[in-house]
Amino acid sequence: MKVMKMVTVVMLFMVVVVMAGDVTYDGRSLIINGSRRMLFSGSIHYPRSTPEMWPYLISQAKDGGLDVIQTYVFWNVHEPIQGQFNFQGRYDLVRFIKEIRDQGLYVSLRIGPFIESEWKYGGFPFWLHDIPGIVFRSDNEPFKFQMQKFVSMIVNMMKSEELYASQGGPIILSQIENEYQNVEGAFHEKGPPYVKWAASMATSLNTGVPWIMCKQDDAPDPLINTCNGLRCGETFVGPNRPYKPALWTENWVSLYQVFGEEPYKRSAQDIAFHVALFIAKMNGSFVNYYMVYLLLSWGTNFGRFASAYVITSYYDEAPLDEYGLIRQPKWGHLKDLHAAVKQSSEALLSGKPTSFSLGQAQQAYVFQANSEICAAFLMNNDSKQASVVFQNGNMSCREKSISILPDCRNVVFNTATVKVQVGMRSSRVILHLNDVQNWGAFADGVSDITDASFTQQSLLEQLNVTKDETDYLWYTTSYNFASDDDQLVLWVNSTAHVLHAFVNDEFVGSQHGSHKSPGVTFEKPVSLKNGKNDISLLSVMVGSPDSGAYLERRVLGLRQVKIRGIKSVRDLSNQVWGYKIGLQGESTEIYTKEGSEKVEWKSIDIFAHQRLIWYKTTFDAPSGKDPVAVNLGSMGKGEVWINGENIGRYWISFQTPNGHPSQTLYHIPRSFLKPLGNLLVLFEEEVGNPTEITLETISVANA
Ligand SMILES: *[C@@H]1O[C@H](CO)[C@@H](O)[C@H](O)[C@H]1NC(C)=O
Ligand SMILES: *[C@@H]1O[C@H](CO)[C@@H](O)[C@H](O)[C@H]1NC(C)=O
Ligand SMILES: *[C@@H]1O[C@H](CO)[C@@H](O)[C@H](O)[C@H]1NC(C)=O
Ligand SMILES: *[C@@H]1O[C@H](CO)[C@@H](O)[C@H](O)[C@H]1NC(C)=O
Ligand SMILES: *[C@@H]1O[C@H](CO)[C@@H](O)[C@H](O)[C@H]1NC(C)=O
Ligand SMILES: *[C@@H]1O[C@H](CO)[C@@H](O)[C@H](O)[C@H]1NC(C)=O
Repeated sequence: MKVMKMVTVVMLFMVVVVMAGDVTYDGRSLIINGSRRMLFSGSIHYPRSTPEMWPYLISQAKDGGLDVIQTYVFWNVHEPIQGQFNFQGRYDLVRFIKEIRDQGLYVSLRIGPFIESEWKYGGFPFWLHDIPGIVFRSDNEPFKFQMQKFVSMIVNMMKSEELYASQGGPIILSQIENEYQNVEGAFHEKGPPYVKWAASMATSLNTGVPWIMCKQDDAPDPLINTCNGLRCGETFVGPNRPYKPALWTENWVSLYQVFGEEPYKRSAQDIAFHVALFIAKMNGSFVNYYMVYLLLSWGTNFGRFASAYVITSYYDEAPLDEYGLIRQPKWGHLKDLHAAVKQSSEALLSGKPTSFSLGQAQQAYVFQANSEICAAFLMNNDSKQASVVFQNGNMSCREKSISILPDCRNVVFNTATVKVQVGMRSSRVILHLNDVQNWGAFADGVSDITDASFTQQSLLEQLNVTKDETDYLWYTTSYNFASDDDQLVLWVNSTAHVLHAFVNDEFVGSQHGSHKSPGVTFEKPVSLKNGKNDISLLSVMVGSPDSGAYLERRVLGLRQVKIRGIKSVRDLSNQVWGYKIGLQGESTEIYTKEGSEKVEWKSIDIFAHQRLIWYKTTFDAPSGKDPVAVNLGSMGKGEVWINGENIGRYWISFQTPNGHPSQTLYHIPRSFLKPLGNLLVLFEEEVGNPTEITLETISVANA
C-alpha cells in the first residue's frame, strides 16, 4: 500500500510539472504546452545593439514571421573582472529577454559559455587565461569549475526572474558549449568526457526546457544535436536518436566580413530554398537565421569586441541590416516563406512524411495526415525549369526551387519567385566636419625604453602582457651599433596583426597580416648611427582570436627581431626589451569629456602627415530618427569614440582586392548622441584627413 501511494504521488507530481509548461520534444518537433511547434527563429545579440533599439528589432523580427529570438550569452561583457559583474545597458540580458517575452516571442538562450561568435576571445573573459593549470573546453578541473559557476549563475538568474517556459516565461531552449566537435579531436582523451560532463552538468540544472549542442553529432541524451551551416537540408547527419527533432541553429544568411575582403552575398532565393529543403527532407521543425535574418546578423561590434580581423559591422547583409533597416528582398521573401510553411504546419507536424521522385532532379516531399490534411513540397534541383506531374496534374517548376502546396493542390509559394520589391539603402551626407578650427590634435608619441613600464630580457607574449585590455603594446630596446656594415635591414617576425616600426623616433614602415594569414614578417631598410639607437616597435592586435583548440596557449606578438647587414646579422630577440602597455591617450581616457580636457590639443596642421595622432571635434546630432553613421573614408586605421563610447575599430587603408575599404560607414546608435555638442574622438595609427569626415543618415527607399 505504501509503495502504491508513493507511485501515485510521483505520478501526480510529474503531471503537475508538465502542466506547468515544461518544453519537451519528440522525433517531430519541440513540444510546448503539449503541442508540437514549427518555429522560425532569428539571432539578435544584445551587446551588438542598444536597449533603445531592442523593441524595434524584436518587433521587426516578429513582423517577419519569427517565433523565437536566439542569442548567445556573452560572458566577457558580464564578468570583465573575476567576481565583478555587469548586467547594465547593452549587457542587460534580463531586460532583453523580458522585452522578447513582452512582444510574445520565445527565446533560445545559447549560454555556451564558449560562443566563438566572432567575438573577443570567443566570449571568455581574459582572466580565465591566468588561472593556474587551466585548459579551456576540456576535461580539466579548473576550467569545469569556472564554467559550471558561470552557467549556474546565468540559469539561476533566469529562474529567479521566472524566464523559463517551465515557469511561464519565454525561454524554450538552452545551449551548452558551441560547435565543440570542430576541436574535440585536439583534446584527445580529454574531449569525450568533457562532452558528457557538460551535458550532465547542464541537465542537472533542471531548467524544464531542452538543452542543445550544435554541431555535436554525439550530443548525449537528453540533449539534442543541432545543425549549423548554409545547407542543413543537404549536410546535416540528422538527429542522433529517432526521438529527437531536426533543429537548425545557425542558418547563415551571409557570412561575417573581415577587413580586406568584400561582403559575402547570399540571395533570398537560396536561403528560402534551403529552409524549405530542411523542413521537407530532414523533417525540420526549427530554423534560426544567424544574424537576423531577419536579424540574425544584425549588429555592431562596438569597442574592441570584434575578434581577429573581423570588421565592426556584423552581418550587415542580413535581412535586417546593421541599422535595423529591412533589407529587401530577403526580408519580404522570407516572410512569405514563413507564412506558407505555417499554413502547412498541421500537415507537417501531424502528417506521415513520404518522398518520391518526380524526375531526375525533381522530388516530392508529402506530409499527409488524412484526406483533408496534406502538404507538399516539390523540389526542382535542376538549374533549368522542369515540368512534373503531381497528383495527376501538370506542373511547371522553376529552376532550383521548391514549391509549397499547403493543401497538396495549390502552390502558395515558390522559393525562386521573389514577389517583393527591392529596397535600396542609401546614405545622405548631413554634416561635413570640415571646419579646421573645430578640430584638435594630440600626438601620442613614439615610446622608447626610457618610458617603459617594465623591462625583460626576452620578447613577451602580447596578450599575457596587455591582458587584452588594449590593442597596443610597445616593444622598445636600445641597440648599440658599432660597425661599418651598411645596407642595414630591420627584420621582425610577429604573430600579432600589425607592426609600426620606428628607429630613433623616425618612422621606418608598417606591415599587417590578414584574416587568412594573421601574422607579420616585416623587412625594411634602416639607417643606424654609431652608438645608441632606439628601436621602437608598436605591435597591434586587430581583435583577439575567437576559435580553435587551446585558446589559452596562443602565442601573439613579436617573436624575433634582427638587424641584418651585408656582413653580419644581429639577433636582438634576447636583448633587454622595454614594455609599455597601450597608448598615452588610452590611459588618460582622452576620448571622454573629462579626459579630453586633461591634454593640450593643438591645431591639426601641426601634425599633418604624422602618425599616432588623436583627433577630436564636436558636432550636433542630425535631426530626425534615421540611423546615423560616421563616414571615415578619409582616414587610415584606428578606433573611434562618440561621447566616450567606443563605436569600434576602423580600417580604411586595408582595401579589398577590388580596391575598396571593407567598411567606411560606422554606426552611431542614436542613444549615444545628445542634441548638441557631441564629442567625436579618433585615434589614427596611420595618416588620415579628419576634415573630410562626414556624418550621414541611412535610409531605405521602397521598403
Ligand atoms: C502555456 O499555456 C499557458 C496557458 O494558456 C500560457 O499561460 C503559457 O504562457 C503557455 N506557455 C508557453 C511557453 O507558451
Ligand atoms: C522523416 O520522418 C519520417 C517518418 O518518421 C522518417 O521515415 C524519415 O526517416 C525522417 N527523415 C529524416 C531525414 O530523418
Ligand atoms: C542538388 O544538386 C546539387 C548539385 O547540383 C547536389 O550537390 C545536391 O546534393 C542536390 N540536392 C538535393 C537535395 O538533391
Ligand atoms: C503534361 O504535359 C505534357 C507535355 O505538355 C503532356 O504530354 C502530358 O500529357 C501532360 N500530362 C497530364 C497528366 O496532363
Ligand atoms: C604571463 O605573464 C606572467 C608574468 O606576468 C608569467 O609569470 C607567465 O609565465 C606568463 N604566461 C605566459 C603563458 O606567457
Ligand atoms: C616567424 O616566427 C614563427 C614563430 O616562431 C615561426 O614559426 C616562423 O617560421 C617564423 N618565420 C620566419 C620567416 O622566420
